[in-house]
Amino acid sequence: MIRSIPVLFLLPYAALSQQTADAEKLAPYYPTPETVVEKMLEFGGLKPGEKMYDLGSGDGRIVIMAARKFRANATGVEMDKDLWKQSMDRIRGLGLRNARVIKGDITRQNYSDADLVTVYLLPSSNVKIRPMLEKQLKKGARVVSHDFEFTGWTPVKTEHIEDDGEGRSHTLYLYVR
Ligand SMILES: C[S@@+](CC[C@H](N)C(=O)[O-])C[C@H]1O[C@@H](n2cnc3c(N)ncnc32)[C@H](O)[C@@H]1O
Repeated sequence: MIRSIPVLFLLPYAALSQQTADAEKLAPYYPTPETVVEKMLEFGGLKPGEKMYDLGSGDGRIVIMAARKFRANATGVEMDKDLWKQSMDRIRGLGLRNARVIKGDITRQNYSDADLVTVYLLPSSNVKIRPMLEKQLKKGARVVSHDFEFTGWTPVKTEHIEDDGEGRSHTLYLYVR
């Protein structure tokens, strides 16, 4: 049976959140499978030299693939210290000069030079970050959202992945500002 949105993701926010003094946890850590990471970046039309940001970058897998395989200038933002360290250790180990992860809050960064933004956050979090993206993103910037739509935006393209190889289905939404 194909499963779609993981149950963990839909548990009440309060049960999962670890609020820090500065940052609101906008989603629990739930990594995108590597096969889907590649599809997200292809779907977003990421080109060499473009600037991309992964908002809540987890173990850095999207940033790392964007830098290694797509030759993009890739930046992640991650509030969890261990995940930040894990991703930076891997980036340094691979010698990637075109990738980095900011240890900080998604909502306190500047994305005005982004060509592509990738997001895998809760639906309510997409609602929260939408005004910031509307304010900051330049015209023509693309946003790829994994599994959850941005209410109020109309996707230019949607892709459904029936099986990621591990029995899970995924949906990708592409928006252009
Ligand atoms: C569902 S995971 C996605 C990880 C990665 N983008 C991926 O697709 O594999 C969401 C990530 O966002 C991070 N996160 C949640 N709220 C955040 C915030 N306010 N600032 C920075 N990171 C945040 C979590 O720690 C978690 O690693």
